[in-house]
Amino acid sequence: MTNSQPITNAAEAQTRKHRWSLRTRIVAILAFTVILLSGTIAAIGLTSLRASLVQQLDGGLRALSARVMVTGSMDGPGVSTGAIQVHIDATGAKGVLLDEDFTTKQLSSDQLTAITTGWSDSPTRDIVPGGGLGNYRFHLEQRGGTAMIVGLPLASVEQTISSLGLTMALVAIAGCLVFGMLAAWFVRHQLLPLEKVADAAEGIAETPLERGEVQLQRAEEPGPNAAGEVTRLVSGFNSMIDQVTDAFHARHDSEEKVRRFVSDASHELRTPLASIRGYSELTRRMGIELPKDAEYALGRIESESVRMTDLVEDLLLLARIDEGQELTSQPVDLTTLVSDAVNDAAVAGPHHQWLFEPAEHDGEPVTVAGDPARLQQVLVNLLANARIHTPEGTKVSVSLEEDENWATIHVHDNGPGIPAEQLPKLFERFARGDTSRTRATGSTGLGLAIIDAIVGAHRGELRVTSEPGDTSFTVRIPKS
Ligand SMILES: Nc1ncnc2c1ncn2[C@@H]1O[C@H](COP(=O)(O)OP(=O)(O)OP(=O)(O)O)[C@@H](O)[C@H]1O
Ligand SMILES: [Mg+2]
Repeated sequence: MTNSQPITNAAEAQTRKHRWSLRTRIVAILAFTVILLSGTIAAIGLTSLRASLVQQLDGGLRALSARVMVTGSMDGPGVSTGAIQVHIDATGAKGVLLDEDFTTKQLSSDQLTAITTGWSDSPTRDIVPGGGLGNYRFHLEQRGGTAMIVGLPLASVEQTISSLGLTMALVAIAGCLVFGMLAAWFVRHQLLPLEKVADAAEGIAETPLERGEVQLQRAEEPGPNAAGEVTRLVSGFNSMIDQVTDAFHARHDSEEKVRRFVSDASHELRTPLASIRGYSELTRRMGIELPKDAEYALGRIESESVRMTDLVEDLLLLARIDEGQELTSQPVDLTTLVSDAVNDAAVAGPHHQWLFEPAEHDGEPVTVAGDPARLQQVLVNLLANARIHTPEGTKVSVSLEEDENWATIHVHDNGPGIPAEQLPKLFERFARGDTSRTRATGSTGLGLAIIDAIVGAHRGELRVTSEPGDTSFTVRIPKS
């Protein structure tokens, strides 16, 4: 029977894989923090450096202004090229620029307007005079009805700031890259034991735990330099695995004991049962006239001992398959096997309708590698069910198909079907439907469990679908 749970788990695992790993998250948050921090430090550093450079420039401006106020002109040593002087009086504003070659050049009226307008309380401000001149710092000095504005270019300040900014950016990028790589290596190294735990846990999730001997994988112990929490987690995980493994070993031991007990008990019961049957048959053959009650009791002893022998044989077979006793593996002609089984069933159940559709295969029989006696038992049990658990007149059709890898046997009947609540536990041992009916038919509830065990031992599949009037058992056996 199919189980949709592993598919859901696989889909979940796939979705989980697409999410950011813890390592990526830690590295990303660290890298983001470092970029933010270095950006903030660079911005604060550059701003305060600019403020200090502008302050120095303001000192120069005040010195230049004092000198111009005294001498009336910028001529003379110590005045840098690019300096601007504007004189404002009642007649208007006049201004000059000290050129590269230390000659003075008159400012245009647009430049004068830009320089002289827009002043407020502060004696210094930045202005772009235009006419090819960049950003300037100006200082205003007023005396009587006249005013003197002197200005120095901010180009050197801006150049210093931009080249320092570029250097800082390059250093920051290189630093972030180196930091990112170091952080990625460090985090990866630190989280490696957790990945090992995850691998071990995934391995356990894929291990079948329902029965049998279970070997669980422990996680690799982290090195001595691993973080305390990681070491704790790994050793906690491993102790848990040890405990669970011990519990599974204990379960396996007890399963083994039960299996051995069932196997030994069944084996031991065979002889006394044979004796009971033998003696009851002998008594009957003696030809002695028995009272009616004794005759009935003898019949019951006989029929119940036959039933018990069958039960003991079934239990013994199940115990042997569980023990993993080797099945024989030889070519089995399924076409003949199925056809003989259907013929036998038709003889045993003459009031049912039996139909066999062999595989369309150019007359060649369908063969698989397996144990012929056990495969025959699969067919016998399935056909017995179709006979015993359905009323007379039921149509039972058996078909055989094959493809490249599998031989498939379908047993279908149009009987009353199996109740839906019984289906999930149908292949369990002693699973029976209506007990009053099945007891009457002498069934034990082991037939399908035996089929399941035999098909499993052949690495095959057993499925059932059932609703009233439509019950189908499908057995698939691998061809090699
Ligand atoms: N073809 C079927 N139609 C209706 N019910 C069925 C059919 N096959 C199986 N069942 C139900 O499944 C139950 C389990 O079948 P299973 O063969 O395991 O046991 P059993 O037939 O009761 O006993 P046993 O085969 O050991 O003598 C049956 O008791 C019956 O209720
Ligand atoms: Mg049965």
